[in-house]
Amino acid sequence: MWAAPTRLGLMNIAPLTLGSPSNAHALTVPTPVFLAPMAGVTNGAFRTLCYEQGAGVCVNEMITARGVTIGDFRTVDMMTFVADEPVKAVQLYGTDPDTLDVAVGIAIQAFGAELIDLNFGCPVPKVTRKGGGGVLPWKLGLFRAIVRACVASADRYGVPVTLKCRIGIDDAHTTFRDVGRIAEDEGIAAVCLHARTVAEAYAGLAHWEAITELVGLLDIPVLGNGDVREGSDAVAMMAQTGCAGVEIGRGCLGRPWLFADIKAALAGDDTRHLPNLGEVCALLLRHAELNIALLGEHHAMNDMRKHTGWYLRGFPVGSETRLALSHVSSLDDLAGLLARLDPSASFPTSELGKPRGRQGTPRTHVIMPYGWLNDRDGLGLDIDDSDAGDVSGG
Ligand SMILES: Cc1cc2nc3c(=O)[nH]c(=O)nc-3n(C[C@H](O)[C@H](O)[C@H](O)COP(=O)(O)O)c2cc1C
Repeated sequence: MWAAPTRLGLMNIAPLTLGSPSNAHALTVPTPVFLAPMAGVTNGAFRTLCYEQGAGVCVNEMITARGVTIGDFRTVDMMTFVADEPVKAVQLYGTDPDTLDVAVGIAIQAFGAELIDLNFGCPVPKVTRKGGGGVLPWKLGLFRAIVRACVASADRYGVPVTLKCRIGIDDAHTTFRDVGRIAEDEGIAAVCLHARTVAEAYAGLAHWEAITELVGLLDIPVLGNGDVREGSDAVAMMAQTGCAGVEIGRGCLGRPWLFADIKAALAGDDTRHLPNLGEVCALLLRHAELNIALLGEHHAMNDMRKHTGWYLRGFPVGSETRLALSHVSSLDDLAGLLARLDPSASFPTSELGKPRGRQGTPRTHVIMPYGWLNDRDGLGLDIDDSDAGDVSGG
């Protein structure tokens, strides 16, 4: 199960403190390795598995502020934390400072959130069309107003606020430097930079040099995000950019043990977790059980179909079983299909270091409200914030 350890250069990884150390509520994260928020993926079941493997903070899916304030039932379900999560962290999305102010208060008071993350990176047209997500920081006044409102709201409870952004809208309209400066001014505890533009979506290689630049500009911690697929990538990103920690998105899809690998790698040990098919199936079944406890069997098993594909990638499964797994609707069916597989099949090492999850292609243009780029200082007061829930795909 465990590959022979080799030695990587030992890194001096400091625990990450979110919030001023003089604040009794400041959060200290011993291992600065975060599970990145992923809509439709990072629910309580997946977060539980990633925490068990050593993730420092696991951020819930992106949740719309408006859905929180109107008590939308899907939003409430998504916001619910698992009882013993080490850090209850949620990402909020919105375009209206007042709505976000209230949503932050509710997330903390009613749901027990201990860390609020703000979404300024979503590239989904449904979001950018309304001036939200990754295109919002172009409006510096609106961006500042949102950050100020959220920090003030969370401050009442001593809860730190972080934010996640991209490099900008496209190469000609970068925003990350302004985002960083304003975030620092307004009391944000850390900035996570997904080192791509909105136009790049998930395609191509992340531009780690932008992370290096942001680290040089800011005194608050910067978390690097983009293309960390193995422990050695995390070591390389921290060494190259000087970032205070890393956020992991697609690399851990169907592979929550990546967090154990990264933790080992940051401690100088290149041990890799290479579970055989039997071990992967056991984890997959546990994931399904945790998901059923959260969502009920029907929804949980629908949700598990994509995870099943990720867990079994590269293993000898056979096209018939793979097809049957993609339609599975009960835990018993899942267990029955997995029992057909050879538990001793070894981990497909050819999968290591390969991209996982969505890659897509860059966009030729980013959909934004009419005239959005004409004015940087506006407050964007006429933008439509009417979506309550379901903004998937951050
Ligand atoms: C399925 C999926 C859903 C995502 N949802 C969100 C989200 O809700 N909020 C967010 O800030 N980023 C979201 N992202 C982006 C990731 O958090 C991360 O920034 C991106 O995948 C790049 O990191 P990676 O190369 O480690 O995957 C999502 C990505 C994927 C693949």
